[in-house]
Amino acid sequence: MCGIFGYLGSRQASNILLDGLRRLEYRGYDSTGIAVKDETIQIYKKVGKVGDLETILPSQIDGTVGIAHTRWATHGVVSDANAHPHRSANGKVVIVHNGIIENTRQLRTSLTVQGVELQSDTDSEALAHVIERELSVDNNPENAVRRTLHLARGTWGLCVLFLEYDMIVCARNGSPLIIGQGDGEMFVSSDPHALTPYTQRVVFLEDGEMATLTKNQMSLSTIKGKNFDPSITVLEDDWGESELGEYPHFMLKEIYEQPDALRHCISGRLDRVRGNGRLGGLKLEPRDLAKVPHVRLLGCGTAFNAAEIGQMLIEKLARIPAVAHISSEFRHNDPVINPNALHFAVTQSGETADTLSAVKEIQLKGGSVYGVVNVVGSSIARECGKGVYIHSGPEQAVASTKAFSNMVAALSMFALQVGRSRATSKEQGKDLINGLQQIPHLIEEYLENQGPILEAVEMIKDAKCVLFLGRGISAPVAKEGALKLMEIAYIPCLAYPAGEMKHGPIALLEEGSPVVFIAPNDHVKVKTISAMHECKARGARIILIHEEGDDIASEADISIPVPQVHSLLSPLLTVIPTQLIAYHTALALGCNVDRPRNLAKSVTVE
Ligand code: AGP
Repeated sequence: MCGIFGYLGSRQASNILLDGLRRLEYRGYDSTGIAVKDETIQIYKKVGKVGDLETILPSQIDGTVGIAHTRWATHGVVSDANAHPHRSANGKVVIVHNGIIENTRQLRTSLTVQGVELQSDTDSEALAHVIERELSVDNNPENAVRRTLHLARGTWGLCVLFLEYDMIVCARNGSPLIIGQGDGEMFVSSDPHALTPYTQRVVFLEDGEMATLTKNQMSLSTIKGKNFDPSITVLEDDWGESELGEYPHFMLKEIYEQPDALRHCISGRLDRVRGNGRLGGLKLEPRDLAKVPHVRLLGCGTAFNAAEIGQMLIEKLARIPAVAHISSEFRHNDPVINPNALHFAVTQSGETADTLSAVKEIQLKGGSVYGVVNVVGSSIARECGKGVYIHSGPEQAVASTKAFSNMVAALSMFALQVGRSRATSKEQGKDLINGLQQIPHLIEEYLENQGPILEAVEMIKDAKCVLFLGRGISAPVAKEGALKLMEIAYIPCLAYPAGEMKHGPIALLEEGSPVVFIAPNDHVKVKTISAMHECKARGARIILIHEEGDDIASEADISIPVPQVHSLLSPLLTVIPTQLIAYHTALALGCNVDRPRNLAKSVTVE
């Protein structure tokens, strides 16, 4: 979604801003822009990619201070005028803004009454004009921003550039902003990943905080005007390259990174001798774990699908009732929160607004939440304050792949650890650990020999609709396969627990309808076979993902075998062919695999 990058120092700002924008590209956006201050503030903005913006830039833009933005439209259509940065009427104040200003209509009306002509349809532009007005009161940029924000309602990650001052004033409320401290230079971004090529020393602004940056100094205060000292975090080097390397797309690269990502996730977190998990982030004694009444897991999209698998693993291993909830629904249903229950917020980006709201709802009602998060230092990781990082390394394709696997692996370790203090025996624990340790190698083995993925692509690429079916622990895998194919190849897909098929979706089947079955060799396989027969009897064509050596293969039109594994861990293998089917179908249809239309990598609005 929207992204911010800012720079002030002694170097020419424009190239650094463009580089920052490129590092924000993976988040998804529809237009971009930069503003650079010298004698004047020059603004260039354009619909399209960063490459499109570059085509309208002069060969040299002088100025060592600037701000930049990638926009994902919320208020106002995708247009050059609505792209950020926005300038005030006298041109002396320029802003970039992430988030939503809820009372924008009121602000715009009061500005119009004062004779200001707004140039865009965005909710953000009004802020630039109000700051200009407030600046005329006392010529104090920081106070002007502060007073403006007292008038605004909504969420913001805001950076403001002033023609007459060598500074950037920033503020955060509900939309992330991180300051990077360099040597005689400062950076600011909505995404720590964009800062790491320049500095590892960062300050995460919290909601209600502001920062005034000059090239040598940052001064921090609350929006109420209380000053405080910066607390510097030194970002650790993440594993994994954020460049494409030899791969044509980030999605393919990330599919292939799954074995290593899983090795990073489980490394040092398994106790083979005791058959237990060793997750430091689960700050609970076995005697507390024994008293847990229930578990709730929250997530959106892929993270929700992983949470559903986590739910089943926890129930199975720990014998505690567990439920996965879609974050965007959670707080609106006024949930009853039991402070003794365990809550998990599952998220790759750690910035998903719906999941963050769910976390706050639980905290407000006296519960506490463990984060199962990929991005270190992200808002949800900090809000939870405890939990585990899943260590997938940077995930850049909008379609999440390696984060899904690592969420499932992390949740399986949680389930094991809670389970060992309750219902799971040492031997069962050792078994699961064995299984987990084999997975990276088994995925590598599968990736060497992927089966007839391209035949499956031929079968589905022109389909009106593709049905994905699985039972038990494979039902969320079916959902994940459908989500992936739908989001990057734009083919309508439905996913159901296989037993539900005869209660409705069966009506869709006609001669040649493609149905993808996920059917590992577990206790529900026989039931899944029945559903498969029902589909075949109506002319459906079956793509079957199953375990190697299983004679179920003969039931399929296209059979895709994956290596055998511990039955509770089968999603970590069966999901891989679904990712490859989605990837190759999107390619065959000429879709933009890494940046599908309308989607954003991290969805920071509710
Ligand atoms: C996954 O392929 C999707 N792009 C999307 O569903 C994603 O999983 C969801 O928006 C949640 O994101 P998060 O993990 O960063 O919270």
